[in-house]
Amino acid sequence: MEEDSLSASSITDNLDTHFIGQRVIYYPRLTSTMEVAKREAQQGAAEGTVIVADEQTAGKGRLKRIWLSPKGNIALSVILHPDLAYLPSLIMVASLAVVHCVEAVTGLKAQIKWPNDVLINNKKVGGILIEGDVKGNMVDYAIIGIGVNVNLRLSDFPEIQSIATSLSDELGKEVSRLEVIRQLLVEIERLYLMLQTGGSVFEEWQDRLITLGRRVTVKWGKNIYQGIAESVTTDGSLLLRHSDGSLTKIAGGDVTLRD
Ligand code: BTN
Repeated sequence: MEEDSLSASSITDNLDTHFIGQRVIYYPRLTSTMEVAKREAQQGAAEGTVIVADEQTAGKGRLKRIWLSPKGNIALSVILHPDLAYLPSLIMVASLAVVHCVEAVTGLKAQIKWPNDVLINNKKVGGILIEGDVKGNMVDYAIIGIGVNVNLRLSDFPEIQSIATSLSDELGKEVSRLEVIRQLLVEIERLYLMLQTGGSVFEEWQDRLITLGRRVTVKWGKNIYQGIAESVTTDGSLLLRHSDGSLTKIAGGDVTLRD
């Protein structure tokens, strides 16, 4: 398949959403869609504005890591203006949207590793970064950043080959990035609206987590915790049971599955 080219209009034309992706700003190359989205949000961009790039030169991952973002992948950020109460649920909305989108477009089964890595066959295919600005009890803006390895040949990236995969490597053929992006935007809007109309994304997010019941190591800042990932709370935290019976609530971090 020829490399599918993206443009703002190819994403927005007849897109089946009310506001997510109705305005798209497309860049062939930029530093990070998070940076541009932040600038747009500070200048009052409407809810649902999306920044998309073919390639990022300074892609940002969680925990201040670098996110590899070459051509052939998807890198996008969505600007939202949620109520404060919905902020913890955005990781659930975003990771479920990626899972649903991957399954709808490719038929591949995807899982979530707490808090929000999307995996196929135990390898990472997508990552999510949420950033925002809260003033008092008002959310000025929140940005959902999503990176999906779509047409990445992992054999070209031996440094991450053992932990990462792509839709094309899993499927054995290239996948339309345009279709993935459009489906992703539809799913984000559906789940975000569901949240705001009293529906819950928590149960499905919890059910999709491959982490629960497993022996894990969690790195969070300077702390390292070990135990069994027992459950998650509705604010998205992980409850870790230690061998002495005690329980730790962990709000974020990096999980290694040990069994
Ligand atoms: C992670 O798993 O560490 C999160 C990765 C998030 C990557 C996406 S790509 C689009 C957006 N722009 C960035 O610079 N980062 C996010």
